[in-house]
Amino acid sequence: MYDFNHANSRLGTSSTKWDRYQSRYNLDDVVALWVADMDFNCLPEINEAIIKRAQHGIYGYTDPTEDCLNAIISWEKRHHNIEIKKEDIVLTTGVVYAMYTAVEQLVQPDEKVMVMTPVYPPFFKTPADVNREVVYCPLILEPEVRIDLDKMEEMLKNDPKIKMLIFCNPHNPVGKSWTKEELREMLEVAHRYNIVVMSDEIHADLVFKPLEHVSMLGVDSKFNDQIVLLGAPTKTFNLAGMKISYALIPNQEICTEFARRAKATGLSSINIFGFEVLAAAYNHGDVWLEECLDYVYENMVWLKDFLSEHLPKCRFEIPESTYLAWVDFSGYNVPDNFAEVLKFEGGVELQDGRGFKDSDGYQRINCACPRSILEKGMERVVACMKKKNWL
Ligand SMILES: Cc1ncc(COP(=O)(O)O)c(C=O)c1O
Repeated sequence: MYDFNHANSRLGTSSTKWDRYQSRYNLDDVVALWVADMDFNCLPEINEAIIKRAQHGIYGYTDPTEDCLNAIISWEKRHHNIEIKKEDIVLTTGVVYAMYTAVEQLVQPDEKVMVMTPVYPPFFKTPADVNREVVYCPLILEPEVRIDLDKMEEMLKNDPKIKMLIFCNPHNPVGKSWTKEELREMLEVAHRYNIVVMSDEIHADLVFKPLEHVSMLGVDSKFNDQIVLLGAPTKTFNLAGMKISYALIPNQEICTEFARRAKATGLSSINIFGFEVLAAAYNHGDVWLEECLDYVYENMVWLKDFLSEHLPKCRFEIPESTYLAWVDFSGYNVPDNFAEVLKFEGGVELQDGRGFKDSDGYQRINCACPRSILEKGMERVVACMKKKNWL
């Protein structure tokens, strides 16, 4: 059994999640429950792989290792039930960087990208950054999360300039794990209008039992030519600082051009340790991941109980996937700058839902941490709300 209750402190490691309070705001004691980054000690085999490579002591130019590529193929088969070939894989230094490249390649400057909100902000910021217009087809959230297929169809029918959908599978922040049928219906519409579906599957391994992740490339091979899948071990094993991810692109014309651009821009120039950590994680991480997911799920159960007892007007359902709790605080009389007040006065940082669009009143709470951190953070939320008379 791995120990998820105890973890090394990340303070003083220049951690984005924990050290910015001191370096940016001169705040000493804030509990960080925001960015999607785990606070668990990592799989021991990952550390061992790094140490072994470092002991060799020569760090010259290095090609992608066979072990790394085989590990991706084997993981995708074992965990997501898809068969991929080496020539479909382009290694990348990050999912969001890969998104930039794919948008620039596949959507011309006068064309448009569709996104389904609320969603991880780079989905709409990335196309906008490279001057591609973004159009919104919001998800239907009540009584349960669904894709608005009628609106999607109507938008595509009326606007032939829409050339790509960027889709989150599973979905950050609402935690939805899409079924094969839901994906098939969406892909049928995309197929009819000949748009590319870029499927961000960085959270694919974080689906709670008994559900299983359905890869966009596993729905029906007739759609695969129009799919760009972005995957990574970085959420699953908390390796974001290692800068290793990959694109899976069965359409060889698209894949060759993507690889050319990735090479030209340095997107596919992986750090020597990136190959090692990916292979170690994918070859040795199955049990760690299973136990980690069980632990996170228990944190979600704890959070649900805590909210029912102390903040009963919050609306929250345990998500189907991701370690991110999506909590509606709109039952309370909190101000627009609620997240800021919690951070600067309450000593706890949640992720303000408004950044994801169409999410007023929501906060995203990261549950991938030892229970003691989650407890401390949530107690601070309640204390701050009490102090401010918001309860
Ligand atoms: C849906 C989604 N895609 C991509 C990323 C970031 O990926 P990367 O660090 O590889 O750019 C995140 C991080 O939270 C995410 O939630």
